[in-house]
Amino acid sequence: MSRATTVQAPVGIDHHQAPLLDALRRYAEDGVVPFSTPGHKGGRSMDAEFRDRFGSVLLAGDVPLGGGIDDTHFSRGVLEAAEALGAAAWAADRTFYLVNGSSAGNHAFLLATLRPGDEVIVGRDMHKSLMVALMLTGAVPIYVEPQLHPELSVGLGIRPESIAAALDAHPEARLVALVSPSYCGVPSDLARIAAVAHERGVPVYVDEAWGPHFHFHPALPPSAMASGVDGAVASTHKILGALTQSAVLNVAGNRADPQRIASAVGMAQTTSPSVPILASIDACRRQMALEGEALLDRAIALASEARRRLQALPGIGVLDAETLGLDQYDLTKLVIDVVGLGLTGHEVEAILRRRFAVQPEMSDLVSVICLVTIGDDDSSIARLVDAFTRLAHERSETRRSGGSAELRSSGAAIASGAQAMSPRAAFFSPALAVPLERSVGAVSAELVIPYPPGIPVLAPGDVITADKVAYLRDGVARGVHLSGPADPHLATIRVVADPV
Ligand SMILES: Cc1ncc(COP(=O)(O)O)c(C=O)c1O
Repeated sequence: MSRATTVQAPVGIDHHQAPLLDALRRYAEDGVVPFSTPGHKGGRSMDAEFRDRFGSVLLAGDVPLGGGIDDTHFSRGVLEAAEALGAAAWAADRTFYLVNGSSAGNHAFLLATLRPGDEVIVGRDMHKSLMVALMLTGAVPIYVEPQLHPELSVGLGIRPESIAAALDAHPEARLVALVSPSYCGVPSDLARIAAVAHERGVPVYVDEAWGPHFHFHPALPPSAMASGVDGAVASTHKILGALTQSAVLNVAGNRADPQRIASAVGMAQTTSPSVPILASIDACRRQMALEGEALLDRAIALASEARRRLQALPGIGVLDAETLGLDQYDLTKLVIDVVGLGLTGHEVEAILRRRFAVQPEMSDLVSVICLVTIGDDDSSIARLVDAFTRLAHERSETRRSGGSAELRSSGAAIASGAQAMSPRAAFFSPALAVPLERSVGAVSAELVIPYPPGIPVLAPGDVITADKVAYLRDGVARGVHLSGPADPHLATIRVVADPV
């Protein structure tokens, strides 16, 4: 399949149209008097401060989909027209607009394609929402680990050879599900992964939450749909110009049943989707289809300039394709290594926010991640680079000379290891909190993801080993942030009470 750059509209598709925006305009022009949800009736009954902050225009647009945007309760014609344009823009056969983020897409696709007990090949660097999808379905994950950069503790993607080996060892597997790109902007070779899976008749689903922009610029990694996968979800709110919670679920072909996916989308989402969120996807699709390449040109140029200037600062490194030894990388991501400043990423994030009013996307022990998007300009990039410049020069007395290895090591402890039961069985089993030190040999009831490298050390159903306990204990002592466990300091961990 060829790469889309400037989106070529298929016959009959006019990307200048925006059906949801048009319908919102008509609703306003008609002067509709609503005896329907939402109860705030165009913002009239709302708390005044809230109304002032959000503005009456936005609130007037918070109308129902059926019986609002469409003129009768059960019709979905406007949304369907908007989603058809979305499918043309992202090169899908069918696209679903989501109001509960990529999380909802992950739940829906796996619910539609897997049954309890089915084997599914899953990249171990999955997001929590894919784990929840496994719990919902009762499928049995066969984990495949990403390669790790030997020094930088950055995942280098899932190798097609690993997928082929997993499929050969588990010929009954019904789906391959992967995250690509990773949080750090590293894509897997999806075209080759699709080829090895399709040769064996198995569909491929990609959690492309961090890659909604890939499809619109040739210098970015190939998008999941352009790589020939069967389904992919992308968070339009993460990188593009759409509202928080918005995402698109793209589907191609019939290896995964499109009708079942449509039903599952209806199950995974609210029955009262927010029209402002849906309309923001409509507008974002129009913008990207018509001007995406030019807008991304600018964002990539800004990010490249920022990367170059930050890399020149003492004590600071910024990931790039060359350092990682990759052909493809998300050029808009700034993964800024701060170990050389003698500070953790968390400390740098706090300093940036409190002293410089600059807010990174995320921090971990060794880095801060900053997103450069089509919303940035010279002045926002200058704020970021200036803040780092001041910090780097202030820290020049105290910074460390390279002593980062102990902060980065991840070792064998992140290998998936033995599973005693499926994530669903672990989730529904009685569980109890035990001191971490006493948990060796027990079955984890929790997902425990240390940052870095953002790969689960434990998933529900995994057998807890002494290696993993030692790794987690050391990480906590060094200030690693753990995502997932009920006790964020992991003095205790929830384990399955009576594994059978
Ligand atoms: C890889 C990945 N998948 C899915 C999600 C969930 O996306 P959303 O917040 O749009 O539901 C995230 C969120 O950060 C993510 O990093």
